[in-house]
Amino acid sequence: MIPPPTERLVFRDWNAADLAAFQAICSDPVVMEFVGTGEPWSLIQTEQFITRAHEMSESLGYCQWPLTHKADSVVIGFCGFIPATNGAEIGWRLARAYWGQGLATEAARAVLKHGFETLAFQHITATVQSSNRASIRIMEKLNMNAESSFRRNGRDVLQFSIHNPQTPLGRNSK
Ligand SMILES: CC(C)(COP(=O)(O)OP(=O)(O)OC[C@H]1O[C@@H](n2cnc3c(N)ncnc32)[C@H](O)[C@@H]1OP(=O)(O)O)[C@@H](O)C(=O)NCCC(=O)NCCS
Repeated sequence: MIPPPTERLVFRDWNAADLAAFQAICSDPVVMEFVGTGEPWSLIQTEQFITRAHEMSESLGYCQWPLTHKADSVVIGFCGFIPATNGAEIGWRLARAYWGQGLATEAARAVLKHGFETLAFQHITATVQSSNRASIRIMEKLNMNAESSFRRNGRDVLQFSIHNPQTPLGRNSK
C-alpha cells in the first residue's frame, strides 16, 4: 500500500528507470553528508538500495517510497519505512534543488499518518546524526521524542520515536 499523494508530492513504487535520477541524488556529497559514513554512493550502492526497497515493498507492503513532484515525474528523493522493533523506522532524502520548501516535512507527515492509520505500526522510530539539524527539526515537527543516543560509523546518532496515537500506549504517552 502506497501513501496517498500530498498537496505537492506523489508516492509510488520503484522501477529500474529511476536509477539515473536517484543516483544523481545519492552521488551528491552535500546530500550524503549525514548519511552513513558521509560518503556519496556508487551506482552499485544506489542500484542495491532500489532493489532492496522494491523487494521490501513486495514482501512487506511498505518501503522507502520514491517521491515525485506533481509538477513533473522525475524522482526527487524518497520517504518511507524500513522494519524496526515493534514497528518501523521512518527516513527521508531529497535532491538538493528541492530543499527549503517544506517538502520533506510534507512527505514525512503523510508517511507517518499512513504508518499509523493504514499500516497500523505501534511504534515509529527515526535515527539521525546529531549534526543534521534539518532532519532533527523535521522529527520535532512530527512530535517525535528524542529517546536515546549512541555512536554509529564513528558519529553521534540520536534516536527519536513516537507511539501510534490510536493505541492505548500512544494515548498515554507524551
Ligand atoms: C533533511 C532533508 C530531507 C530536509 O529537506 P527539506 O525539504 O529542506 O526540509 P523542510 O523544508 O521540510 O524543513 C526542514 C526544517 O528544518 C529546518 N532547517 C533546514 N535546514 C536547517 C539547518 N541547517 N539548521 C537548522 N534547521 C534547518 C527548516 O527551517 C525547517 O524547519 P521550519 O519549518 O521550522 O522552518 C534534506 O535536507 C535532505 O535530503 N538532506 C540529506 C539527506 C538526509 O540527511 N536525510 C536524513 C537522514 S536522517
